[in-house]
Amino acid sequence: MADYFEPDFENRIVSSSFSESDARGADSENTLRPKTLAEYVGQSAVKENLSVSLEAAKLRREPLDHTLLYGPPGLGKTTLAAILANEMGVQFRVTSGPAIEKPGDLAALLSSLNEGDVLFIDEIHRLNRAVEEILYPAMEDFALDIIIGTGPAARSIRLPLEKFTLIGATTRPGQLSAPLRDRFGMLMRLELYTPEELGAIVKRSAGILEIPIDDAGANEIARRSRGTPRIANRLLKRVRDFAQVLGDGVIDEKTANKALERLEIDDLGLDRIDRKLLSAIIHTFSGGPVGLETLGATIGEEGVTIEDVYEPYLLQLGFLNRTPRGRCVTKLAYEHLGVPVPEDPNASTGQVSLEDAEA
Ligand SMILES: Nc1ncnc2c1ncn2[C@@H]1O[C@H](COP(=O)(O)OP(=O)(O)OP(=O)(O)O)[C@@H](O)[C@H]1O
Ligand SMILES: [Mg+2]
Repeated sequence: MADYFEPDFENRIVSSSFSESDARGADSENTLRPKTLAEYVGQSAVKENLSVSLEAAKLRREPLDHTLLYGPPGLGKTTLAAILANEMGVQFRVTSGPAIEKPGDLAALLSSLNEGDVLFIDEIHRLNRAVEEILYPAMEDFALDIIIGTGPAARSIRLPLEKFTLIGATTRPGQLSAPLRDRFGMLMRLELYTPEELGAIVKRSAGILEIPIDDAGANEIARRSRGTPRIANRLLKRVRDFAQVLGDGVIDEKTANKALERLEIDDLGLDRIDRKLLSAIIHTFSGGPVGLETLGATIGEEGVTIEDVYEPYLLQLGFLNRTPRGRCVTKLAYEHLGVPVPEDPNASTGQVSLEDAEA
C-alpha cells in the first residue's frame, strides 16, 4: 500500500525511525551516541532537571527515580537513558515492550538486576497488561508478587528486589495506562531540536566520523533535518557520499545543497512524502479538515505513523493545524508548495486545537 506514491518509502532517508543502515558499520548510531550529559546537545530544560536529580541521587547514594522519556522518534531517548546509567555508574539493561511476552520474562529480568541498575524499556506503551502488572509492585515497593498454586490453595508471596531505576521511553505517552504513568517519579518530554543545536550535532558527528565539513555545510544539513538528530546524522552520511564522488570530499554549503537537492529534500527538510501529504490535503480535501485515517488511506500510510512521524515537524513549521474535525493545512503550506492560496481557505484560520476528534 505504501508504494502507491512512494516506492522506496521503507528507505526514506528523512525517516526519523531507526533503520538497518543506522546500525551498520563503523559509523553506526552507537559510535555517534554521546556518553555523558555534557556531550548531549540541546534539550536544556530536561538536562537541567536531570542533572539535579543525578546529583541528589548520588549524594543520597540512592538509585535515580523512575523516569519516563517521551517524544517523537530519533530525538535521543535511548541515548539519554544510557547517559543516565553511565553518569550513575551503574549497569544499563535494555529491553522493549514488545520483546517481553510473559510476566515471567519480566520477573526474571527484574530479579537479575543489581542495586542501582537502570532497566530501560523502550516502547513501554506496548507492554501487555499482564506484564505491566508485574511492574507496579516492582516500581513502587521493589518487590515481585508471585502467585503459587491454583484455585483455593493459591497464595501470593512477595519477593524483594534490589532497588533499581526504571527508564521507560515512548513516542505515545497517551497510550500508557494511568497506573503505570503515575509510578514514574519524573516525566520528561523531549522537544524537536533547533537548527543551531542540530548544527552542533552535525559538527560533532562529522568530527567523530572524520568527515571534513565547514560551518555553512553543517548548517545547511542542520536546517533540513526536521529538528531530529537521527535525521541529521543520516543526511550527513549521505551528503558525504556526494561530496566524495562529485567533489573533493569536503562538505561545504554548495555540495550540501547539491546533494540534498538530489535527495529531493527541500529547503525546509521536507521530502516527497511530506509534500504528498500536504498536497493531498490541499487538492483532495480542499485544504481540510480531514481525519487522520482518511488522510492516511489517501497517501498509503497509517494514521498513527502520520501522527507520530510526519506531523510533529509539519506542526512545528506551522504548515498543519489540528482541529476538532481533523487536519487542515495553513496558508504557509500553500505558499511553500507554490499553490495559490484560495479565497477563503478553511486552512488559514490559524486555529490550533490539541483536541483532535480522532486523537
Ligand atoms: N542530544 C543529542 N546530542 C547528540 N546526538 C544525539 C542527541 N540526541 C540524539 N542524538 C543522536 O541521534 C541518534 C538517535 O538517537 P536515539 O536512538 O537516542 O533516539 P530515540 O529517541 O531513542 O529514537 P527512537 O524513538 O526511534 O527509539 C543517536 O545515535 C545519537 O547519535
Ligand atoms: Mg530509541
